[in-house]
Amino acid sequence: MSGPRPDTVSGLLAEIADIGRDPVRGGYSRPVLSGAELSLREWFVAHADKRGLEVTTDRNGVIWAWHTPDGSYADAVVTGSHLDSVPGGGAYDGPLGVASALVAFDRLSAAGVGGRPRAIAVFPEEEGSRFGVACLGSRLLTGAIDPARALALADPGGRTFAEALRAAGATPEHLGPDPEALGRIGTFVELHVEQGRGLIDLGQPVAVGSSILGHGRWRVTLSGAGNHAGTTLMSDRRDPMVAAGALVVGVRRLAREVPEARATVGRLVPTPGGTNVIASRVDLWLDVRHHDDATTLALVERIRQEAELAAAEEGCSAVMAEESFSATVDFDAGLRDELCEVLPGAPVLATGAGHDAGVLKAHVPTAMLFVRNPTGVSHAPDEAVEDVDAEHGALALAHTLEHLA
Ligand code: GLV
Ligand code: MN
Ligand code: MN
Repeated sequence: MSGPRPDTVSGLLAEIADIGRDPVRGGYSRPVLSGAELSLREWFVAHADKRGLEVTTDRNGVIWAWHTPDGSYADAVVTGSHLDSVPGGGAYDGPLGVASALVAFDRLSAAGVGGRPRAIAVFPEEEGSRFGVACLGSRLLTGAIDPARALALADPGGRTFAEALRAAGATPEHLGPDPEALGRIGTFVELHVEQGRGLIDLGQPVAVGSSILGHGRWRVTLSGAGNHAGTTLMSDRRDPMVAAGALVVGVRRLAREVPEARATVGRLVPTPGGTNVIASRVDLWLDVRHHDDATTLALVERIRQEAELAAAEEGCSAVMAEESFSATVDFDAGLRDELCEVLPGAPVLATGAGHDAGVLKAHVPTAMLFVRNPTGVSHAPDEAVEDVDAEHGALALAHTLEHLA
């Protein structure tokens, strides 16, 4: 026999290595409620069952796997992450936290750790890569998004979240704030692959999280005049693709003028999208991040003005709409310091990536652990974690959960 042992993080991840591979983009595409994501959820439930954990799926599709030594769910220590991915993403963003939670629970069970109840939570649509709003499961759970708005969100194929839920056998009418489920969480700790170079540069395998950069998503719709690519004179065009190109360059210029800002256009959809067709409309999505929320919003406003200018230059119009905004989150300082005591020598790192832990922070003491990523690349197939670091991470999570228990 060769390959990683099944009771290790790398062994667990090896079991799902073929689920949701993307032959076109490379890496993994595991959008929420796709066949791939549903298979991953089944995989998790099978592992939770095998461990004797009590599994429930709440009204918002969050899976909970419980260990309740005295039958109580109150003041639980909860860990977990997500199983959905960005299009063409890596193997670790999300699944590393879920697999590490299973291994950490194994260690606690083997050591006979009792104390507070504990649970693993798996959140749906963390990436927002199908329905556009990131951390949709935790936002619904906490009431941070109106369920009617969530149900009406549509995927790129025009299917609404409500329709996709129904097709998967869920009951969309049940969606919404769940004070009972939320109220059970006493402390939440999410382990995640690091999505940058912090731990490479520090030569450390595991870090304690300090904060999440504020971030949001905006949709810009540029409208012009669809027409024939061969018969329309260059002087007669109102081409929204030209306005979109100018805007993409403008976004970079404006973001570079703001120290520490990050702004990205990662998705652009022309309608109707034909090689010999001048588009009638282009939708593009903007992701803007900065630690100071007012600075983020001021930059977005400058980009909105830039969009109007770029559109006017081309005889087009521009409309910008916010799809989601998450303020900068500083994790619970007391909990962070406790984790630093449990994990001596672990550095404290901020992250530029969003997480369900960030949404939960408004309601419960929350912390994060990051595991070294030797490429420093994430949201791309090159994302990586060494097996030895993955086990280190699970051990750090086990120590943390045991301390909190
Ligand atoms: C999620 O990973 C995000 O930061 O957008
Ligand atoms: Mn993630
Ligand atoms: Mn991600």
